Amino acid sequence: KRPVGAPDKSLARKVTKVGVVGAGLMASQLALLFARRLQVPVVMTDLDQSRLDKGVAYVAAEVDKLLAKGRISADEANRLKALVTGSLTKDAFADADFVIEAVFEEMSVKQQVFAEVEEVVSAECVLATNTSSLSITEMAAKLRHPERVVGFHFFNPVAVLPLLEVIRGEKTSDETLATAFAVGKSLKKSSVLVADAPAFVVNRILTRFMGEVAKAVDEGTPIEVADHAMDELGLPMSPFVLLQLVGPAVALHVAETLHAAFPERFYVSENLGKLVAAGKSGFYGPDFQIDPEVREIFSGG
Ligand code: 3HC
Repeated sequence: KRPVGAPDKSLARKVTKVGVVGAGLMASQLALLFARRLQVPVVMTDLDQSRLDKGVAYVAAEVDKLLAKGRISADEANRLKALVTGSLTKDAFADADFVIEAVFEEMSVKQQVFAEVEEVVSAECVLATNTSSLSITEMAAKLRHPERVVGFHFFNPVAVLPLLEVIRGEKTSDETLATAFAVGKSLKKSSVLVADAPAFVVNRILTRFMGEVAKAVDEGTPIEVADHAMDELGLPMSPFVLLQLVGPAVALHVAETLHAAFPERFYVSENLGKLVAAGKSGFYGPDFQIDPEVREIFSGG
């Protein structure tokens, strides 16, 4: 069945090589998913060699886990490792048909990335963005070919969660959208077409929910009490564990975007801001206890 709003699949272009801009956790998860499901070469780029090495090493470690679980054969493991490579220059994207960016959640950074990629790729190459909250239309606005830009928003952990939000910008062409849906299908994701509105659909709901829990903590409920209370509702993950999985910096950016768009509906936790400014990447330590520095921030320290 064709997803609601998806153009005719005959318009989809073939994808024989994928570029991933970024080699962070989200980008590396995407590189593995594309290589595994599309069985095409995937090249990641980043600003420095150590980040690139970390991304490629993440992919290799995840492939080894799949092999150890018996999900893939040794041959497949070797093939996947060979398919995913890193390059410091975007020239490696020259023959890519589909490039996805998963860099810092900032409009100007993403616009700059797409402008650089556009210098290298063919006029037909799709430029997809894994943005969590930013406007696809605005991201495409300054490009020579804005019709090739599409939102392609995954959820953490990418290997496990089936949902994919596909977002059409004002100028996105039917060919681009059809290719995005065809790729989503090959990735075995359940694609939905959502409007190009701040944070689309799912992050609006999650941010509202997590904002209220963070507010309860800002107002004095101890962080693990609020977290535990929500856990007992039978959610797959408690709010602060989920915030740690998503990354507090990303969650803060999404909350700020939504607050700017709808100030009366979205709360930006001051304490979450302090935690990100302190460079913390989560709330719990490896012993599943709240990090004492985090507790101090959330109790007004
Ligand atoms: N990476 C890869 N695989 C993972 C993983 C990870 N980080 N975490 C779990 N898995 C795999 C496990 O290996 C296991 O695979 P297997 O069946 O092959 O052994 C499978 O997932 C199930 O894991 P578990 O049995 O350990 O754990 P659970 O049953 O508790 O499921 C979960 C884990 C799927 C992560 C579940 O807790 C969940 O759905 N949590 C909510 C996640 C969520 O809401 N994500 C959305 C975040 S918002 C977002 O990303 C958008 C962005 O823009 C902010």
